[in-house]
This record gives sequence, C-alpha cells and structure tokens, in this order.
Amino acid sequence: MRHLLSTRDLSLDDALLVLDTAEYMATVADRSVKKLPTLRGRTVVNLFFEDSTRTRTSFELAAKRLSADVINFSVRGSSVSKGESLKDTAQTLEAMGADAVVCRHPASGAPHRLAAWVRGSVLNAGDGIHEHPTQALLDAFTIRRRLGRIEGLSVTIVGDVLHSRVARSNVWLLSTLGAAVTVVAPPTLVPVGVEQWPVTVSYDLDAVLPGSDVVMMLRVQRERMTAAFFPTEREYARRYGLDADRLAAMPLSALVMHPGPMVRGMEIASDVADSTRSTVVEQVANGVSVRMAVLYLLLGGTREVP
Ligand code: CP
Repeated sequence: MRHLLSTRDLSLDDALLVLDTAEYMATVADRSVKKLPTLRGRTVVNLFFEDSTRTRTSFELAAKRLSADVINFSVRGSSVSKGESLKDTAQTLEAMGADAVVCRHPASGAPHRLAAWVRGSVLNAGDGIHEHPTQALLDAFTIRRRLGRIEGLSVTIVGDVLHSRVARSNVWLLSTLGAAVTVVAPPTLVPVGVEQWPVTVSYDLDAVLPGSDVVMMLRVQRERMTAAFFPTEREYARRYGLDADRLAAMPLSALVMHPGPMVRGMEIASDVADSTRSTVVEQVANGVSVRMAVLYLLLGGTREVP
C-alpha cells in the first residue's frame, strides 16, 4: 500500500496490521522510548487547507517520534493565496524532497487527485465530507484497547452523518472489522445513498442506546450546511444529544466516543463528555500511535510489526 486515502481500500488484514503496529508503537511510548530511528532522513509534509488541532499536531508528533523531518505547510502566508493550484503546490513540495504528504482539504477527493500527481505517499487527513481514515483507525484502536475486540460489537454513530467524513470512514472500517454499525440522525442529515452502506439507519436514539456497545457522537458541522438542514439547537439536543439520562440508558460497559472538536451542550453534555465512560482524551492520545503506525507502514516499514 502506497497511500492511505480511504478505509474502503483496507482489507481486514491491512486494518489489523495497522492496529497491531499501533499497539507496538504505544507500547514503545509506554516504555518511555521517546524516538525510533525508523524514518530518519525521510520528510513528511503536513499540507492543511482546513483548520485542525488534533490531526495536524498528532501527525507532526508521530513523524517526529519516528525521526522524520516535518514541514508544516500553512495555506495562510503561502502562494496558495496568490492562486497557486493544489497540483503546483504539491509538486513544489515534492521537488524539495517530501516523501509523504499529509493532506486535509475542503474538497472531497482532493487527496486522491494529489496521489496521481506526486511520487511520494499521500495520507488523507480529511477531505470535505468524504473520508478521514486515520480518525477511524484511531477510533477502532481505542475501541479494541478498551473492549478487547471489535468483531461482534454494536456501534452506534449519532448526529450529522451527512457532513461527516469521520462517520463514512468509521462505517467502512468498523464493518470490515466485523462490527454491526447503526447510524442515527435527523432525517435531513442522513446522506442520500445510505442504503448502499453496510449500516442500519435509525431516527430514534433512545431505541438504539440500550443495545449499543459504543456510541460515537458526531460534531454538527454548521459550516457545511444551510439553515434548511438544521433543527433548532434545543430540538437537536432534545432528540439527538447525549445527556446523563441517555448515558444511564446505555449498558454500563458501553463507551462514549467523539472525534472532537465537540460542541458541548448540544450534541454532548459536558458531564457525559468528561465522564469515565468517555474516551475523548484517549482517542487523541491514541491518534499519535496510530499515525506512527501508518507512517511507518507507508514509508518503508516491512509488512511485519517491528
Ligand atoms: N478529529 C479531528 O479531525 O480533529 P481536528 O479537526 O482538530 O484535526
């Protein structure tokens, strides 16, 4: 595998290899080994055309922990503001020796285009409403660490499914890993064509919570929607928000997940987000191990766990 563009491209063996390699990376970190020499002499470029806190920072940390050089390319202050195209930008960075380009872009499919233009590896760090594969991999890693398995679990993904690249990547990956996925959303935030996805669709959160092993809340992406899509905040919270009463309706062992950033008080209540059942902070920490694994495997690791 040269690129990581979509979790749909991952076979069960591919997905398990990433998760097992990430486990190794986490173990190394737990032993206080700060750096591995694996990618010494390699260069990773973070090419972000959209804002990010978690993904950009953790890709940078992951690359540095593997001893790679990292260039953080910021669109603001670059020649993109003068109209330079994605292709010219990427080829300019490659001419300077980039071995991998980590790309976040508002246009769905942009990293796929990029992969056709550059010789190095392209890692999709979130493209429009399409996919966010490393988020799904770190979510799967978090579930497996907490619950010991993924196969046979019932995972419920709740909220703005229409605009969520996190939901799409998780649906494909978790299905490959053997979970049963249900998506719950207001009717206006369910994507056209969802019947082609390997999921059950529900509009009734209260009906599915008692049977869920994992409840993954999504951010409501107001920046991607017009008013017509959206119920009032109060109405949304009442029907689709995860509050203490709904947490109590879930099995005691069930996890609450959120990829962040969270809109507290609407999609998730603060006491739920901060509860011991929530994996929000763990997900962020696990993101570093998972991104180390992906960089390692794409940039010259063997097919074996090191
Ligand atoms: N979950 C996620 O992609 O967060 P950022 O937008 O902060 O990278």
